[in-house]
Amino acid sequence: MFEKIQQLNEQFSHLTAQEILEYFLNAYKGKIALSSSFGAEDQVLSHMILTIDKTAKIFTLDTGRLPYETYSVMDSTNLKYGIKVDVYFPEAKEVEELYKTQGINGFYESIENRKRCCFVRKIQPLQRALKGLEVWVTGLRASQSVTREQMQLIEYDEANQVIKLNPLLAWSEQDVWDFIKENNVPYNKLHDQGYPSIGCAPCTRAVKEGEDIRSGRWWWENPEHKECGLHKK
Ligand code: ADX
Ligand code: SF4
Repeated sequence: MFEKIQQLNEQFSHLTAQEILEYFLNAYKGKIALSSSFGAEDQVLSHMILTIDKTAKIFTLDTGRLPYETYSVMDSTNLKYGIKVDVYFPEAKEVEELYKTQGINGFYESIENRKRCCFVRKIQPLQRALKGLEVWVTGLRASQSVTREQMQLIEYDEANQVIKLNPLLAWSEQDVWDFIKENNVPYNKLHDQGYPSIGCAPCTRAVKEGEDIRSGRWWWENPEHKECGLHKK
């Protein structure tokens, strides 16, 4: 698998995000999906993907703790493109157990609690969403954080046994916003209020001009811990 991934990276690294998506959407029809948090990068990818194939699978992990504005952009995306994004929710029993063991906002108390909450609300639903698929498309960009600098355009996700495709890996934040404006893509209104990166409401806050773009995510933790487990280092 390692060699196949190397070869795919060499083959695709000089192509545009659209060209890469076009190839993968055709080659893996019915076996490929975009995971969208409805952040700016994912909105770019949804637009590109739906322009190529209106029936392509786009799914989101509704953790149950998302900001109001995220549900609004979910809705406007469905309406604009005439689709129904697949929504995966955590298991009710697991969430009930989480509240019993660590309380309502236990994630502030320890990294262990925080990772458990992310596991129940994101990782388990992700595993269900990726079942039976061969390619997982994400909106990861290398310049988002120290934990993402080493990522590759095409990777293999051992945990979920899928090829992971990051078409915007080399894009800058400016590239993302230029595309959104040029193509009139709906976006999360929190981006206009100082939120460059948006996750769950209690674990995301606005950042000041010039601050690191992910510094508003799990702001009480050190930068090297700031992954929820969706994307292994
Ligand atoms: S996170 O791991 O810290 O939450 P981030 O918000 O930067 O990730 O998003 C990176 C990529 O992970 C997104 O482009 C998207 O593919 C995926 N992702 C993150 N959160 C979700 C979510 N709630 N639902 C679906 N995909 C998500
Ligand atoms: Fe829980 Fe926060 Fe992780 Fe969301 S980001 S799943 S609320 S710990």
